[in-house]
Amino acid sequence: MTLRDKVAVVTGAASGMGRALCRELANEGVRLGLLDRDADGLASLEVELRQSGAVISTAIVDVTDRSGMRETMQNLVVALGPIELLIACAGITGTTLVDDLAVEKTEAILRVNYLGVVYALDALLPDMIARGRGHIVALSSLAGCRGMPFSAAYSASKAALMAYLESLRPPLRRRGIAVTTVLPGFVRTPLMANAPVQPPMKMMEPEAAARHILRAIHRRSRVYAFPWSTSWLLRVLGLLPPGLYDWCMARGAAHIPNVTY
Ligand SMILES: NC(=O)c1ccc[n+]([C@@H]2O[C@H](COP(=O)([O-])OP(=O)(O)OC[C@H]3O[C@@H](n4cnc5c(N)ncnc54)[C@H](OP(=O)(O)O)[C@@H]3O)[C@@H](O)[C@H]2O)c1
Repeated sequence: MTLRDKVAVVTGAASGMGRALCRELANEGVRLGLLDRDADGLASLEVELRQSGAVISTAIVDVTDRSGMRETMQNLVVALGPIELLIACAGITGTTLVDDLAVEKTEAILRVNYLGVVYALDALLPDMIARGRGHIVALSSLAGCRGMPFSAAYSASKAALMAYLESLRPPLRRRGIAVTTVLPGFVRTPLMANAPVQPPMKMMEPEAAARHILRAIHRRSRVYAFPWSTSWLLRVLGLLPPGLYDWCMARGAAHIPNVTY
């Protein structure tokens, strides 16, 4: 399926996987709406993509601002035309400890990672449904497949997003709209600097991750997980009964310095 001249909106476009994906999409001739709260990061991407001849429009917006998201999407439609593809990349992470539940941070994580996608859909779906076409792509995480150590809030936000998209997928398909849930493993981006623990395995580069996401878009996959090694490890962990899972997590977490499990 060619994406040339289609209009795509990418949230979290200024950094990490969103930024790398914008470069891939621009190379394919996609007309891009770039959204982020990071004005400097967005401005430097805008300069780079305009120099390469891409057709783009940018907006500094917080995905947790529902009315701001509606207004932004309306402006993008005026600037670029009807939006065919949403790629929701904006996300944050943070540590949850039993001695410090970090409730404000937990609320922020749920607002950005879960409600941020809901608000983007709230702004876009009516038009997609009216036109009977569209594609929703959102970055959940393999960390949403089971509760990860030190990551209760992050895992919960990504599990919520996964379930939400899965519920919407069949009825949207009947209306001509595809839904793709992307489940990345560990990718070397600024977000990982705020991760509770650094992964034991080598992290994937954002450019390689972006190529995976592009493949998922072209295939209109329902669920797309990468890299395969992390994806299979999570599948095996998914089969473990709760007691054995707890034992494995406690064993692994006990080796992590400077944090109490
Ligand atoms: N990196 C990984 O290993 C990994 C693994 C699985 C899933 N993911 C998911 O993949 C997505 C992209 O992550 P990434 O690693 O590429 O992260 P990243 O490099 O930190 O990029 C995320 C971008 O989203 C922006 N953002 C955050 N909150 C926002 C808000 N409320 N409104 C608008 N923009 C906001 C960030 O701005 P600020 O810089 O201002 O925060 C940043 O520019 C996230 O949903 C993440 O949870 C990442």
